[in-house]
Amino acid sequence: MNYLLRGIGVVSAVGVFSLLAFSLPSGDARGDGGYTLPKLTHKNWQQECASCHIAYPPSMLPKASWRRLMGGLDQHFGENASLDPATQADILRFLEANAADSGTSRMGSRVMRSMSPSEAPLRITETRWFVRKHDEVSRATWSRKSIGSAANCAACHRQAERGVFDEDTVRIPK
Ligand code: HEC
Ligand code: HEC
Repeated sequence: MNYLLRGIGVVSAVGVFSLLAFSLPSGDARGDGGYTLPKLTHKNWQQECASCHIAYPPSMLPKASWRRLMGGLDQHFGENASLDPATQADILRFLEANAADSGTSRMGSRVMRSMSPSEAPLRITETRWFVRKHDEVSRATWSRKSIGSAANCAACHRQAERGVFDEDTVRIPK
């Protein structure tokens, strides 16, 4: 009982602190959780979706986005990333099961909070959540040679491959 009350005390103290610390209604203004995502393993996904870029966390896009993206792998952002139908279906099942709107992660609810249910962006970097989180990064910075595009998470998030996106692991290259 005592323990429970103390727990509630901590939670509300954190809540008040967040309100003071953040002026914008940010979904992350809770002071909890951070951005170290739970480790996911899936053989085909790790093998097929991490050769050109990091295996983007499934929880950063809704199911409808993953369906669109997996349905157009032959024209994947200027690349042909086609797979055999069985592998494609297997990866899609995994992405859907862990998608932002699958209700399986805090990361997902953060993304969905700023997205209407009808949206199905093909890019994480186009979600309102992403844009808001990166509003301090200038256009010129995104296009630096060392970065190339916003999609190159690992250029700045040095532990992105392990699903670690916490702000204290960010270092923007020159
Ligand atoms: C042959 C290389 C290649 C493979 C294989 C590949 N991709 Fe990509 N992917 C790209 C390129 C190129 C981009 C665009 C990067 C940019 O804009 O800088 C991209 C972008 C993306 C984006 C959007 C990133 C953003 O938010 O801007 C997602 C999501 C994505 N890929 C998912 C996947 C998934 C899932 C797979 C596995 C089924 C996959 N990719 C396999 C080349 C590849
Ligand atoms: C140009 C460097 C750069 C690139 C590329 C980049 N980010 Fe970031 N990211 C940042 C900066 C700077 C912040 C803000 C850190 C802060 O609040 O101090 C940030 C914040 C974040 C946060 C929130 C961290 C926190 O603790 O609040 C997440 C999650 C994130 N980025 C994910 C991504 C993903 C996913 C990609 C690729 C699709 C990406 N970022 C690409 C620089 C970058």
